[in-house]
Amino acid sequence: MKFIAYTVKGIEDIAKDEIKEFFPAANIIELESKAIIFDPKDDDFDRLSRFKTIDDLGIFVYEIVYTRELNHKSLAEEIASINFVKYRELLGKFRSAKPKKFSLTVSLPGLKNLKSNPFKDLLATVIAAEKGWTYTEKDHTNFDIRVFLGDGKIYVSVRLTNESLHKREYKEFSKSGSLRPTIAAALVRLTTGMKHGKLVDNFCGSGTILCEAYNLGNEIYGGDVDAGSVEFTKKNLKSLDFEELDNIKLGDAIKTTYPDNTFDYAISNLPWDKQIEVESFTGLYIDSLREYKRILKDKFVMSLLVKKPELMISLIGSVFENVEVSKIQLSLVGQQPEVITVRSK
Ligand SMILES: C[S@@+](CC[C@H](N)C(=O)[O-])C[C@H]1O[C@@H](n2cnc3c(N)ncnc32)[C@H](O)[C@@H]1O
Repeated sequence: MKFIAYTVKGIEDIAKDEIKEFFPAANIIELESKAIIFDPKDDDFDRLSRFKTIDDLGIFVYEIVYTRELNHKSLAEEIASINFVKYRELLGKFRSAKPKKFSLTVSLPGLKNLKSNPFKDLLATVIAAEKGWTYTEKDHTNFDIRVFLGDGKIYVSVRLTNESLHKREYKEFSKSGSLRPTIAAALVRLTTGMKHGKLVDNFCGSGTILCEAYNLGNEIYGGDVDAGSVEFTKKNLKSLDFEELDNIKLGDAIKTTYPDNTFDYAISNLPWDKQIEVESFTGLYIDSLREYKRILKDKFVMSLLVKKPELMISLIGSVFENVEVSKIQLSLVGQQPEVITVRSK
């Protein structure tokens, strides 16, 4: 049985490693931009819903190579001609779905002649007519057919779980600018290599990185200069039964109260544009790097999600010696932040 995992662009390799960790015998059939098709080669399917770096998971149905000649109508007809009955039966192994009802999730960004919504309406009409099913536009809990454009290919799948995997129950409180949990989980994996250690986020916001790091077994500490954010982080952590709430402090990232050489790992999603005046970026970044250098152990790994990677890399060069620096570009709702990882040699 084949599945398709949808990820944020840039974290596919990290997600692939998570798939291989959960299903060591898995066959990775395609590793594309934002999509991984795999056969777990194992039917302990409960593990599928526990992935942390994957946004959504579907039963893989079909792929169509995108060509310029492809138009709305022919694409809709091709999808409607798929024998979905078999996939309804497979979905029944995971969850119930009302018979003869369906919904659609269509993500076709960047396809100039194929705007998402008109295509979705057309596809709904064509499938309803072809199969005799009722389209439930708002209710995605039934048989949800997903049509997704990757790099040059359109993937068709059926949503496996009722809720998207990137939703987290703990995240009841969040401010704007809060990180998607799957990215936070990917940052933790990348930074810790799935070892456990003392981990700090001095710009914790609503605490997504700390929540994911705690879930993955780390001893977590953090803070924020904004009192409301500290409150939100504590509330979110509390819902994970985290008890050391004094580890989360109100304070400035450039001057914390931690002793020297305390942490194995630091992970932060640094404030940008709208949150802070542009002129003060350099000052804040350099001072917070110096502070991270002080509180990190000699052997450390630090990952920073930033919008100005070149500036950050040059500042890292002026603060840290004997380190390896690597970067990964992400792509998320029109933004392209980068993860800069700094490892002591
Ligand atoms: C991009 S947000 C972090 C979002 C967080 N990763 C989350 O998932 O909710 C950046 C945070 O840095 C905080 N911040 C800005 N300047 C700061 C400073 N000097 N010290 C500590 N926190 C600061 C802001 O209040 C904001 O909550």
